Amino acid sequence: MTHEITLIPGDGIGPEITEAVVRILDAAGVSINWDRHDAGQLAVERTGQPLPEALLDSIRERKVALKGPVTTPVGRGFTSVNVGLRKALDLFVNLRPVANLPGLDTRFDNVDLVIVRENTEDLYSGLEHVVVPGVVESLKITTAQAATRIAEFAFEYARRHGRRRVTAVHKANIMKLGDGLFLESFRTVAARYPDIQSDDRIIDAACMQLVMRPEQFDVLVLPNLYGDIVSDLCAGLVGGLGVVPGANLGTTTAVFEAVHGTAPDIAGRDIANPTALLLSALLMLRHIGEDAAADRIRQALEATVRAGVRTRDLGGTVGTRAFADEIISRLAA
Ligand code: NAI
Repeated sequence: MTHEITLIPGDGIGPEITEAVVRILDAAGVSINWDRHDAGQLAVERTGQPLPEALLDSIRERKVALKGPVTTPVGRGFTSVNVGLRKALDLFVNLRPVANLPGLDTRFDNVDLVIVRENTEDLYSGLEHVVVPGVVESLKITTAQAATRIAEFAFEYARRHGRRRVTAVHKANIMKLGDGLFLESFRTVAARYPDIQSDDRIIDAACMQLVMRPEQFDVLVLPNLYGDIVSDLCAGLVGGLGVVPGANLGTTTAVFEAVHGTAPDIAGRDIANPTALLLSALLMLRHIGEDAAADRIRQALEATVRAGVRTRDLGGTVGTRAFADEIISRLAA
């Protein structure tokens, strides 16, 4: 069967890594009809809109998208395409599994945790205003509805994937109302899942524990901003941003993308690591029922890494295209 999937190559290293991943999926024999769309600056130049309605319609119709990173202008310009996409499609879960890639030596060899980040509110609601010159107020929004559904997702995920514990991360000792509501909603949901252990940590203590003994964590559920920061921190535990995948999930649609951004410092030089986007694509393949292809590509990736093939971020010299070729050559074996 041929799958209909939206492809957003994105900015910076996006086009290079999406091309590498599309070639690997094709070589693995997965039949996909890609509907390509621009977003961000490229889309502004071509359509006048950073997040064109045609792109949103394409994802609504196909239900699944693979996305490269998109630039967000800092302190000016259009609002974040990533935040806009998550809001427009109500992609309320940002799922980021963080685990060691066998064969890749990093500071820790026993990390296997899953970050479940709330994706729609908190300080990402974009509600900021100048109170008086020199004073800005940024609103941190927490609703019982969003806190409850992200907790429900985390427990359901734990059950489906044989995970044993869900930990809520918060700062409810200081933000007693906002993070307090997040924690209270989590505890109410946890009571309905007696088969899954639950506990909670304060964000600062959780960060310290993550860099000292990451193996103690299983599933983590966090409000948007803490989830954003902690997922980069966790990426650093297993080799960096080049190897950590992600998925934005709603009730009907799913957009798969790496945790990292557009990496403007290395864009256009054929040196970016496509692994994080490839691992995101493997999550996508499992989502659409192509488990056998996902297993084969995963084995080829692991064999490539075990053979010492490394992109520059991991201390090697192999380029993006050559790295993809190495994986493709091991698919046939
Ligand atoms: P970044 O993740 O793009 O880069 C941080 C560092 O990691 C850089 O040194 C970069 O070279 C390296 N890096 C990232 N991905 C890599 C890869 N696949 N292979 C090798 N090295 C890699 O973060 P930064 O610089 O803060 O953001 C750049 C732009 O990306 C900004 O406009 C930001 O808004 C956007 N961004 C977009 C995201 C998305 O579309 N989901 C997510 C995060 C940032």
